[in-house]
Amino acid sequence: MSKQKLIAGNWKMNGSLVANEALVRAIAQGMGDADCTVAVCVPAAYLEQVNKLRAGTRLELGAQDVSRYEQGAYTGEISAGMLREFGVRYAIVGHSERRHYHGETDDTVAEKAKTALAHGITPIVCVGETLAEREAGNTQEVVKRQMAAVIHTNGHCISEVVVAYEPVWAIGTGKTATPEQAQEVHALLRAQLKAATTHSDRIHILYGGSMNAGNAQSLLAQPDIDGGLIGGASLKANDFLQIIQAGANRK
Ligand code: PGA
Repeated sequence: MSKQKLIAGNWKMNGSLVANEALVRAIAQGMGDADCTVAVCVPAAYLEQVNKLRAGTRLELGAQDVSRYEQGAYTGEISAGMLREFGVRYAIVGHSERRHYHGETDDTVAEKAKTALAHGITPIVCVGETLAEREAGNTQEVVKRQMAAVIHTNGHCISEVVVAYEPVWAIGTGKTATPEQAQEVHALLRAQLKAATTHSDRIHILYGGSMNAGNAQSLLAQPDIDGGLIGGASLKANDFLQIIQAGANRK
């Protein structure tokens, strides 16, 4: 039987105390005993709220970023140790929005993954090419470079990370990579991870970029797509639940 898929919602900078409560309750109830791992990566301000709401359910909690530093004079940053105190199991690192708007480099992303792992948090490391890079035929080169930095910095711990392939041109645009386009890059990433660790098979490689209730099944059916990182559709309980069902192993 194939390994459990990981379906992770990325709320980005969305939510409110009232909306979160309704959404988390609906997800926790609707997912039932679906045979997959489900997580929501929520804004830091809501970690405590969502951690309480999910108590006693199978829903896992994630953050959207983590500091590369342990503690100290880093105004605005949140450390991995702090995240742990709120039940955080996953932290997205290197999302393209952080690379783009906050100038995060491959090196920063690799360091963040390392700090997360040191605190028992699984980093969801995002890689992906822009439209210009794809059109110039540089997709493979870009994602390999982004992945190589994380492999280099994390050594044998690389088998503990989750990878998310998120083509930048597909994020929030409604344009999804075709299952074949996504699988091609996932296979490339798997081969790169295989060269770095004997445990590459257990690494989850997620697809992200306009995944929704309609396209989830065909994407998740690809041999190297082990789950999804879902933005917009994770804010709507029904859509997210349909994606969860598409990712669940049949009993
Ligand atoms: P999207 O976002 O599903 O809204 O395209 C995915 C992501 O950015 O993680």
